Amino acid sequence: MDALELLSHDHRMVEQLFRDYQASASDAQRRGVVEIVVRELSKHAALEELMVYPLARKVLPDGQQEIDEHLAEHMSVKKTLLALDGLSAGDDRTDALMADLQREIEHHVQEEGVLMPKLRAAVDEQALQELGAELDKGKQTAPTRPHPHAPDEPPLLTLAGPVAAIYDRLRDRLQGRPQT
Ligand SMILES: [Fe+2]
Ligand SMILES: [Fe+2]
Repeated sequence: MDALELLSHDHRMVEQLFRDYQASASDAQRRGVVEIVVRELSKHAALEELMVYPLARKVLPDGQQEIDEHLAEHMSVKKTLLALDGLSAGDDRTDALMADLQREIEHHVQEEGVLMPKLRAAVDEQALQELGAELDKGKQTAPTRPHPHAPDEPPLLTLAGPVAAIYDRLRDRLQGRPQT
């Protein structure tokens, strides 16, 4: 999967988890779904911030402002995830927080439906494949809990290295530089 396919796949998985939550028959089952949602969305948001948004900032003409907006929205998602993370099975705040989260994620998916075609147009398929491989690898080490107070942008983030390399190689191809 290339990077954009991988992110869309994550979105579909989380939408399914919201349906699983609705279909759950017990507090324990609901809590199980909540914990998977916290884990998957924490990883997804962190990897977008580390690897995808920095690239978008560089390659999209309106990237700076657009990504600032995405990061602000990530912040509200992470705060909701943090609140959910602190609950235990059967807590009666869970339903309302999951409803908030679902609204935030619907919005996130909608906004990225605008962002992704722009990225696909601006970045060649080879770079998207390389970025997809880095995202896939990053899933093994990405944070599994929300960290709304941690930095959400490179260069404070160590994972940005591979992305810088992908961006360099993309520019090399676009500018006809030697590719060894
Ligand atoms: Fe996303
Ligand atoms: Fe995002």
